[in-house]
Amino acid sequence: MPLPSRVKLVDVGPRDGLQNEKQPVPAAVKIELVQRLQQAGLTEIEVTSFVSPKWVPQMADNAEVMAGIVRQPGVRYSVLVPNLRGLEAALPTRPDEVVVFAAASEAFSQRNINCSIEESIERFRPVVAAALAQNVAVRGAISCAVGCPYEGDVAPERVAMVARLMREIGVQHVGVADTIGVGTPLKVQRALEAALQHFALDAVSGHFHDTYGQALANTLAALQLGVWQFDASVAGLGGCPYAKGATGNVATEDVVYMLHGMGIDTGIDLDGLVDAGAFISDFLGRKSQSRAATAIWNKRTA
Ligand code: HMG
Ligand code: MG
Repeated sequence: MPLPSRVKLVDVGPRDGLQNEKQPVPAAVKIELVQRLQQAGLTEIEVTSFVSPKWVPQMADNAEVMAGIVRQPGVRYSVLVPNLRGLEAALPTRPDEVVVFAAASEAFSQRNINCSIEESIERFRPVVAAALAQNVAVRGAISCAVGCPYEGDVAPERVAMVARLMREIGVQHVGVADTIGVGTPLKVQRALEAALQHFALDAVSGHFHDTYGQALANTLAALQLGVWQFDASVAGLGGCPYAKGATGNVATEDVVYMLHGMGIDTGIDLDGLVDAGAFISDFLGRKSQSRAATAIWNKRTA
């Protein structure tokens, strides 16, 4: 399989990156982050989630953030929705895409969304139908596609099962998520191949957290299967509140640096992206988790 010549990146920093942040992050800062990401050339941004504010307080300003972003032509804005209530709140804010999220592990499903895998699919069924009826695209995320913080290793068959169920209810695209970043390249390839049993190559993406430092290698392994769409988080922000100890997604800057070095086009301006990462890292009072951004920043200030 030849490597893709172009890759589409979804920056999930404003959502996955910030959802677990303990300090308050004002809506204005989230809006500014979205602005800087689109200025850097990101054409897909996961902005927020319409989940219970009791479960994830940091995303309680979802509607305010969606109302505040300055939409740019050619950029798609997505949001997470766990149920019909979330979809009803999200639709008036005009997302281009909604993301339903299930897990390949029962224990994680219970911890994250308080129901079994099967119940979650039944909950998503009307959500998917209602979103598609409004011409809103629907993506599905499959959490714990390689490993689970509660159950350990997750078999590819579990991923295939969730992918099949998502396909059956009309989900258009699935993201194979290594929620806790335990995956290594061959395991990640097996998980992606499981999703590819039910979705076309153009409808499967990778979502790799970098807890064990494997996310870039896993991205390369996915590229070798022809997968060309990935989620990443600027400055490597984030982690899931229900996956203790798991760190953020692979840093968007690191993925862009690797892809450009391989001659693969992303449409993203790495320098602008480094600025976006510096903006949010400064606000949080934290160093960027991106090695490439840190190197570029050090070179700039030397
Ligand atoms: P529940 O407690 O089972 O549901 O939560 P409920 O229907 O009994 O509702 C509980 C309360 O929440 C009620 O309020 C509802 O009205 C309210 P109360 O009556 O107690 O005042 N509620 C809502 N409020 C706002 N928006 C809603 C909503 N739904 C109910 N949509 C529920 C079930 C799914 C709501 C809850 O478990 C939840 O919100 N979980 C969110 C978990 C989450 O956001 N996790 C992080 C995102 S997933 C992720 O990070 C993984 C990913 O990155 C991929 C990967 O890396 O694996 C995508
Ligand atoms: Mg995630």
